Amino acid sequence: MTEWKKVEEVKKDEEVGKEVNLRGWVYRERSTSKVAFITIRDSSGIIQCVFKKGTPGFEEAKDTKIESSIKIKGVVEKDERAPEGYEIKGKEMKHYQKADKFPITEDPSTSFLMDVRHLWLRSTKINKMLKARENTLSYFRDFFKEREFHEIQPPLLTQAGVEGGSTLFDLDYFDETAYLTQSSQLYLEAFMTSLEKVYCIAPSFRAEKSRTSKHLTEYWHLEAEMAWYNNKDNIKFQEEMISYVANKLAEENKKTLKYFGRNPEDLKKIKPPFRRLSYTEAIEELQDKKINIEWGEDFGSGHEKALTENIEKPLVIYNFPKKIKPFYMPEEKGEKETVLCNDILAPEGYGEIIGGSERIWKLEELLKRLEETSTDKNAYEWYIDLRKYGSVPHSGFGLGIERVLSWLFNREHIRETIGFPRTINRVYP
Ligand code: 4AD
Ligand code: MG
Repeated sequence: MTEWKKVEEVKKDEEVGKEVNLRGWVYRERSTSKVAFITIRDSSGIIQCVFKKGTPGFEEAKDTKIESSIKIKGVVEKDERAPEGYEIKGKEMKHYQKADKFPITEDPSTSFLMDVRHLWLRSTKINKMLKARENTLSYFRDFFKEREFHEIQPPLLTQAGVEGGSTLFDLDYFDETAYLTQSSQLYLEAFMTSLEKVYCIAPSFRAEKSRTSKHLTEYWHLEAEMAWYNNKDNIKFQEEMISYVANKLAEENKKTLKYFGRNPEDLKKIKPPFRRLSYTEAIEELQDKKINIEWGEDFGSGHEKALTENIEKPLVIYNFPKKIKPFYMPEEKGEKETVLCNDILAPEGYGEIIGGSERIWKLEELLKRLEETSTDKNAYEWYIDLRKYGSVPHSGFGLGIERVLSWLFNREHIRETIGFPRTINRVYP
């Protein structure tokens, strides 16, 4: 049986002189009448193979096109001139499939690249981002595992909105109305009564009508819910989590960070505690900077930018006005206008990465707030039940995976951080 090697495995001194078998795709091809150069790509990387006239693979190598799927046999050689110091002296080459002329050529427009996203996934940049994303998610999971959280899987088809009606996608669910979930929070609150500390990484859907570099209509949402935590415990936990993941990336993913133009040192500096401002203090800070905003208004991306332009660590803003936050957040003690919650803004104007809060856990208070916000109670009967059978104080938060990746990997647009981005004007491919 053929032993297949990965490209990155063979770029080593101890492989020099050995005969290896590789399979993958043609990344580059160039030939003269005497020699054919094929750069082969697999999931791990690229390496150049040289087929001299007279070797069995020469004719096949001469007659290939970019992105054809191939297998090759050859001997590993050390070569100072080769891009990474090694190349393959090709012996045999066979096609699995000879590709049509690849449609992505030099200087493609962004919208064309989005149209052929299914083909563009194989680019070096997306390949690296997919791996970066996978590593980042695994660090989040490690963090939760170390703290003995349970990972759960919530439903995505629901009948209850979480974050207000304006961004709900509704669908015809046989004879009933259902929605694609905006957040798994309410279900996490139910799981919490069984497992105490729970989290999930699941899609959330928002019918966002705005075209911005920070909004997807389908994004991956990391959400956690903790029994017995108050607002302060919740904020401290979020700071530790972000620091843990940023530091792990700085330690273990230096090359990838640098590839994306992020200095690993930036992420090493992310350590708790972060700067914390109350909403009211943040408004004052903006007004001092002569930026137009009144108490009671929500922050736009200009405000977020002004608050985080010159800071190295994320910024916590806590206790927002009740009227701009959802029904489930409890009032601050002695205050009727503000609620116990927090957002975290990433540095450098990357915007909000986390929204969290204490949850109303007393039945009467919840009923009053549902009333005040004119929420139809029918879809929330089960949620109300949770306040009738052993309700406990608890808190939680949600973090947008693509928002965090945009910040950590220094990306201009959120679409760069996910395989198939969904936005207001795109659900294809
Ligand atoms: O602030 P949000 O709306 O909060 C909630 O959904 C809570 N129920 C979460 C919870 O407490 N369990 O969303 C949380 C985070 C935001 O901070 C942002 O990072 C991300 O989700 N987010 C989006 N990411 C990409 N595209 C969008 N359209 C997003 N909307 C929110
Ligand atoms: Mg929010």
